[in-house]
Amino acid sequence: MALETQSDRKAVTSAPIEDVLAWRWSPRSFDANATITDEQVLSILEAARWAPSAVNFQPRRFVVGKRGTPTFDKIASHLTSNNKVWAPNASLLILAIAVKADGPTADARPNPWAEYDTGQAAANIVFQAHALGLHAHQMAGMEVDKMREEFALPAHFSPITTIAIGKVADVGLLPEDLQAREIAERTRLPVDTLVLQRD
Ligand SMILES: Cc1cc2nc3c(=O)[nH]c(=O)nc-3n(C[C@H](O)[C@H](O)[C@H](O)COP(=O)(O)O)c2cc1C
Repeated sequence: MALETQSDRKAVTSAPIEDVLAWRWSPRSFDANATITDEQVLSILEAARWAPSAVNFQPRRFVVGKRGTPTFDKIASHLTSNNKVWAPNASLLILAIAVKADGPTADARPNPWAEYDTGQAAANIVFQAHALGLHAHQMAGMEVDKMREEFALPAHFSPITTIAIGKVADVGLLPEDLQAREIAERTRLPVDTLVLQRD
């Protein structure tokens, strides 16, 4: 199968949206030879840094590893199911962690928006990667407790997702059972379903 099958995955929208939103998608076929530069990594992390958050608490932290480094291997080793198969070909893995309270003690104030604000930073990461000509794929499929243990995270640090970033490779390089998903039609609920009330 040729790469063209993966290059026409623009969202079909009922109104125009920005290109970076329409063209973003989550591949599984990453080029195992592609590398990411330090400048690109910094740009992606700056995008995360500038995401909004409730009361500007910025309750998110990241563990970041380029392919070929011990940090990358540690993150990859705690991914689960199919994620274990395709994600190790990405150029970069980022573990996104929510900081769920303002301290580790019993009197620490919980932050009810920690996961939400981590997700906002993750979205910035994904779109900045896209703007750099890369692709990103978020994964919840990971062993959260192992991640916590591996990176010695305190109890109020909660691993939320791992984000794989890299260059798209030909769909034919994926194991057969993953190929159909890579080129399946992209679908969404209609706007009318999302919106409960609109005047
Ligand atoms: C929080 C979150 C967790 C996800 N977990 C996984 C995962 O473990 N494995 C996987 O292959 N894709 C995972 N995805 C990717 C979604 O399946 C994908 O974003 C969705 O099907 C829409 O496809 P698109 O991103 O190409 O538009 C996850 C996405 C998000 C936002």
